[in-house]
Amino acid sequence: MKLKRYLSWKNILPNCIKPQVPSSRPKVHPSKRSSSQRLSLSDISNCDSQLLLSDLSNSLVSLHVFTLKELQLITHKFSRSNFLGEGGFGPVYKGFIDDNLRPGLKAQSVAVKVLNLDGTQGQREWLAEVIFLGQLKHPHLVNLIGYCYEDEHRLLVYEYMERGSLENQLFKRYGPPLPWLTRLKIAAGTAKGLAFLHEEEKPVIYRDFKTSNILLDLAYNAKVSDFGLATDGPGEEETHVMTSVMGTEGYAAPEYLSTGHLTTLSDVFSFGVVLLELLTGRRSVDKSRPAREKSLVEWARPLLKDPHKLHGIMDPRLEGQYSTEGARRAAALAYQCLSNHPKSRPTMRNVVKALHSLLDFTDIPIGSFVYVVPTHDKEEPIAQAIEERYEKQCNEDKQSAEESLIETVVQIRECNAEIGKESREKLCPVKCKN
Ligand SMILES: Nc1ncnc2c1ncn2[C@@H]1O[C@H](COP(=O)(O)OP(=O)(O)OP(=O)(O)O)[C@@H](O)[C@H]1O
Ligand SMILES: [Mg+2]
Repeated sequence: MKLKRYLSWKNILPNCIKPQVPSSRPKVHPSKRSSSQRLSLSDISNCDSQLLLSDLSNSLVSLHVFTLKELQLITHKFSRSNFLGEGGFGPVYKGFIDDNLRPGLKAQSVAVKVLNLDGTQGQREWLAEVIFLGQLKHPHLVNLIGYCYEDEHRLLVYEYMERGSLENQLFKRYGPPLPWLTRLKIAAGTAKGLAFLHEEEKPVIYRDFKTSNILLDLAYNAKVSDFGLATDGPGEEETHVMTSVMGTEGYAAPEYLSTGHLTTLSDVFSFGVVLLELLTGRRSVDKSRPAREKSLVEWARPLLKDPHKLHGIMDPRLEGQYSTEGARRAAALAYQCLSNHPKSRPTMRNVVKALHSLLDFTDIPIGSFVYVVPTHDKEEPIAQAIEERYEKQCNEDKQSAEESLIETVVQIRECNAEIGKESREKLCPVKCKN
């Protein structure tokens, strides 16, 4: 269930970019644009949508402008079999772009998000995605390939992320759980994405950091998606006072909820919530739990600093397969991020550093013994050690998944044999008993 508190965008329907941005200026590639040149949402005011369109295509030259017909073609007319999921913006479909669709656009799978015209989100979210993701390119931000703006239709075309959202991967009921090092890799990747946004000359406050907005590729590289609520923010010292509070219940910083004050440190709080979800395997809000456990932050925060209690809140699906010291430090980091006082929270740059140092703790019990990664030359990047350890763990997971599959098949066969025997007995008891 979505727990969003979208309050007001429907009545702020920007139709274009302020005319002071000349539509005839020379085309600049986004990656070469300095932040001060970055087109921001605050450049938006009311004027006609034709100007918006021409300005967008002049400013965001790295984006492809697709026709509705092209997007229908690549998604098999938005067929059910291409459906990937649906959020507040609207449904998302898988599509495949082949070499012939556009010169210069390589063949690839894509995800096409279609704005639901009756939904809770609107043109503001669509425009925020186009403006932010059209200009900000980073390995840990999902790549926006293009958009469609035709009549009332608003669509977005992204790179396809094979493993879908972290929400689906972390909370899925079946299959092996995400291993400890994969969780750290995801946390470190998204922390880098947020740090990049916060360190822009004109910092970007992301405002909707949560597991469903983190997408994973095949190798579990994590990318931040969904810039619908992002906003150009002030630095750490100043604050924005927002007239309306938007975001998702369970993730928003307390000062933002109570006063509307929004800073980059509000994102740090939300990051702390996601880190806590990665540690505990619990959702930020779970109404099915007993009263004192419904809010993950309220329940877990007092336990995070006590090493004796930490084991009790760690995700039981990890079956103890994590570094105790690594978990202790990750919990201390989450505790700092979740401080009620924004100024006591670390910056995302410091979070990235802390998470990298955590990856050194590789004393992870596997089954009944502790695997310690051999010490590497100091010069050798830690990342390589993690990759090796990660590969090893993936292979082990695969092997244990295969073993458990074989075991399951054997059990099913035994069970079928048993059922067969029982039903034969029921159908012809005398014959079978003989
Ligand atoms: N680029 C992508 N590649 C693969 N799957 C995607 C991609 N973008 C979205 N999806 C899938 O579509 C689903 C819906 O995504 P969407 O971002 O619209 O909604 P949400 O994040 O679940 O909800 P919310 O409205 O709260 O953001 C996701 O859970 C994900 O599985
Ligand atoms: Mg989303």
